[in-house]
Amino acid sequence: MGSEDEKRAAAHASVDFVENGMTVGLGTGSTVAYLLPALAARALDIRCVATSPRTADAATALGLRVLDFDAVDRFDIAIDGADQIAPDGWLIKGGGAAHTREKIVANAADRFVVIADSSKPVAALHGSVPVELMAYGLAATLRELSGVVLRDVPRSPDGGVIGDFHGDLSDPAALAARLSGAPGVVDHGLFAPSMVHDVLIARGTEVEHRVIES
Ligand code: A5P
Repeated sequence: MGSEDEKRAAAHASVDFVENGMTVGLGTGSTVAYLLPALAARALDIRCVATSPRTADAATALGLRVLDFDAVDRFDIAIDGADQIAPDGWLIKGGGAAHTREKIVANAADRFVVIADSSKPVAALHGSVPVELMAYGLAATLRELSGVVLRDVPRSPDGGVIGDFHGDLSDPAALAARLSGAPGVVDHGLFAPSMVHDVLIARGTEVEHRVIES
């Protein structure tokens, strides 16, 4: 069972990876909420880009230098939470509906670090996969995909409609390809192991550091 203390422990461990002069991608969610004050407390000379308005607001309030993404084309490091972490490094993200921006930032990072409490590692991905869909042609996209339940949440900051795909998750690569290939899908919450470099999982006060080889 995860806990707030574990989220804080994983987030604090990740701060050691950040160095002066770095450009840093900041994720979104309750685990990242512990990262931001810890990062600010180090008072490093860093530039940050946030994956959501709420992270941008919180980081700015803490004194971190937050830039627009149009001013940055790569990151030395990006740090973010996850909803599920499979043993082979596949992730499900997007519980907070920020997965599209999070994936762009993670993909642009030399090092993508996932921070998590002990409830996040799973034997196999299960449940549903968050999706962001174009509002244009939404009914056709839903018909094409079948299995998407729309969430009763505001649109994404980029105007996308948020939902969750319910279906067979036993082959994440095949499902990721199917979702990515469907017209009308902006992006989905399956993150491939090739995108992930480090996973920090807190169990009690211990933080396990997994390096994802792919
Ligand atoms: C945001 O859309 C998500 O991808 C989060 O990173 C993920 O849901 C983990 O969130 P928590 O840290 O709140 O568990």
